[in-house]
Amino acid sequence: MVRVGVLTSGGDCPGLNAVIRAVVRRGERHWGDDLVGFHDGWAGVIEGRYQALDVEAMRGYLARGGTMLGTSRVHPWMVDDGVDRARATLQSLALDALVVIGGEGSLAIAHRAHTEGMVPVVGVPKTIDNDIPCTEQTFGFDTAVSIATEAIDRLHTTAESHDRVMVVEVMGRHVGHIATWAGIAGGATVTLVPEHPFDISRVAEIVRWRHERGRYASIVVVAEGALPVPGTLEVEAPAVDQFGHQRLGGIGSVVAAELERRTGFETRVTVLGHVQRGGSPTAFDRVLSSRYGVAAIDAVHDDGLGDMVALQAGVVTRVPLADVVGHLKTVDDRLWEVANALFEARLDRVQGCGPASSRESDTT
Ligand code: F6P
Repeated sequence: MVRVGVLTSGGDCPGLNAVIRAVVRRGERHWGDDLVGFHDGWAGVIEGRYQALDVEAMRGYLARGGTMLGTSRVHPWMVDDGVDRARATLQSLALDALVVIGGEGSLAIAHRAHTEGMVPVVGVPKTIDNDIPCTEQTFGFDTAVSIATEAIDRLHTTAESHDRVMVVEVMGRHVGHIATWAGIAGGATVTLVPEHPFDISRVAEIVRWRHERGRYASIVVVAEGALPVPGTLEVEAPAVDQFGHQRLGGIGSVVAAELERRTGFETRVTVLGHVQRGGSPTAFDRVLSSRYGVAAIDAVHDDGLGDMVALQAGVVTRVPLADVVGHLKTVDDRLWEVANALFEARLDRVQGCGPASSRESDTT
């Protein structure tokens, strides 16, 4: 038996409770562990706020969104005496290991805590953004894509009724995984992602081309972190919160206003925001979270301290946290090509590059 702590850190994400539940079930029943959950991420470690976790305490949480432990972006190295206080709490509990369920920032803190001897850690990759390297998928992403896709499906019908342009802003601060997947799944006209700065005049051209051929409403999906080609469109710098975290959201309105100005077509914007993070995880995310949770507590017992659990070629495995931190996983070029084969074929046709027969078809 060992004593293991668990915390959830950073933005919440559907599937967090399913991970905690799996860690606890496997830890208690298979390994005979004693488990402790810290409240509000690293804040709970610094301030000594925690609770005992056992199978009974986790009943009913599998399908519930959010995190029963609470979360925050508190960073021990950015709080006065944060490191000393965190060490004191961890020592008073005589923890053998800490399972950190978090995104890029939280995993970087976990890696530092491990390498600087604060506590041995195992990481679990969490974020709806799906931007953690060395893993094919983070839990929460599938749920976010499903929510965004359903929203796009709904926007299609109202867009068509009014012959409007609908701009849908989705999350994705550094990368466009949600935008690309939901854009493909929802049959978007065009999708804008942080990886590829966009030219608003090309977007306007695509939209105009569609409308000139009939009552073809357009759906433009924009990742919140998408940016125009420098010098082509003015975008205000985002505000920064107390944790140095940029508060994004707003590019959708900029794109919508500019499209309306350039095309003259009535345009509306929908910002999906935190709806994408709320509510129940999909079945896929419940299963992935459960697999990650079991693998994380197994890693504690099986020489996996300092690692992050990961999905590779469909198998849950482990990678050193050192390989994960400091990078982001961007949208794969091959997937982006697929997306463009669907989105931008229309632009090719506008420019006279597409085959004549394709001019009659519409893939949306
Ligand atoms: O990192 C996950 C994420 O959902 C991003 O997509 C988004 O930019 C950010 O969190 C929002 O953070 P907050 O909950 O602080 O507004």
